[in-house]
Amino acid sequence: MLKEPVEDALNEQINAELYSEYVYLSMAAYYEDEGLPGFASWMRAQAEEEHAHAMRIYDYVNERDGRVTLAGLDDPPTEWADPSDAFRTAYEHEVAISERIDDLVALARAENDNATENMLQWFVAEQVEEEATAQAILDKLKHVGDDGPGLLMIDQELGERGGGDGDLAGEELAEE
Ligand code: FEO
Repeated sequence: MLKEPVEDALNEQINAELYSEYVYLSMAAYYEDEGLPGFASWMRAQAEEEHAHAMRIYDYVNERDGRVTLAGLDDPPTEWADPSDAFRTAYEHEVAISERIDDLVALARAENDNATENMLQWFVAEQVEEEATAQAILDKLKHVGDDGPGLLMIDQELGERGGGDGDLAGEELAEE
């Protein structure tokens, strides 16, 4: 049985993960419009991953006999100054999500809820990866700047990411 403060916080995190899905889908639409299909496909895969994150918490709340309550999503941003700016937003978004996860862990500890803390450890590890992946791509974008061919090369690499699997092109880029 979940304690009420934990249940409320997990419901807020479901909303935050679904909002993340919305943000990445909005970025996918932006990149489509910019003629960068690889970036768009990467963002679309990322959106699917965020949906899976939301459902992981959704399933956990149900498993613990809690009550999932959904709330409205804020409007996502729709415009960015340039392709790098959108990725910078993505990185900053992941940093903010990591802070939310840390706050959730602190709450679970304060409520002596070991099961929730244990479930959240998956997210702690996932956030390390998500931040590192976004940072690696952002670094590459900084190097190419406004260089068209460089941007198209990154677009091609990002297009190799499989649907819904956040570990593909991003990690390969991170390892270079
Ligand atoms: Fe679900 Fe990218 O954090």
